[in-house]
Amino acid sequence: MTRKPAIVAPSMLSANFSNLADAVKLVGEAGAEWIHVDVMDGHFAKNLSFCAKTVADIRPLTKLVLDCHLMVDNPQDYVESFAEAGADYFTFHAEAAVHSHRIIQSIKSAGMKAGICIVPGTPVGVLEELLPELEQVLVLSVNPGFGGQKMIPSCLDKLSKLAALRKERNCHYLLSIDGGITMDNALTVIESGADVIVAGNAFFSAPDHKAAVRSLKGLARQAG
Ligand code: DX5
Ligand code: ZN
Repeated sequence: MTRKPAIVAPSMLSANFSNLADAVKLVGEAGAEWIHVDVMDGHFAKNLSFCAKTVADIRPLTKLVLDCHLMVDNPQDYVESFAEAGADYFTFHAEAAVHSHRIIQSIKSAGMKAGICIVPGTPVGVLEELLPELEQVLVLSVNPGFGGQKMIPSCLDKLSKLAALRKERNCHYLLSIDGGITMDNALTVIESGADVIVAGNAFFSAPDHKAAVRSLKGLARQAG
């Protein structure tokens, strides 16, 4: 069965922070469709990175989808500011919220698309009641905080389970995977059900960014 090419979302966490405008330009010229913006508060994830102002500053530079991944406590506190900044997707962590259903409604009322993410230790089952409300489900295949880690293979099963649930429940969320995705494992990950491939290190360290995108899309087994 020929699957359609994956959407590629390079993660800005692996870009050179001293020149994000160049990184945005590079991502667009390489043929990627999304830009993945990792937001960390130093509590939920033991690192600090971008904020709503980062999104506001890169918004006028690109028409690409700004896919914001909030690895933060109290994600509801950031919905308004990211909407004003021009974020397209606001994806928060199921582990960081009691009232996920309410947060999803607030993301949509603010004009963004709602996504939810689960860390490697969280089972797919916690999402079941939310699936009909979601535009994106992000499977984090590393422990949150840093780029350049190895993918945790057991996370692939979550993709297949979520793809099956989507069909069974007639839902429409995009399935994304994030963490340790490379030109070598992208095809396997796509065959497991991923619609969106987030890649930080594999994209920004590639000698040929266009070839990297083609490979991450599953259009070529290896980069090049
Ligand atoms: C990790 C972030 C990921 C990371 C991906 O906490 O959510 O988006 O930047 O980077 P790579 O592709 O290098 O694992
Ligand atoms: Zn991420």
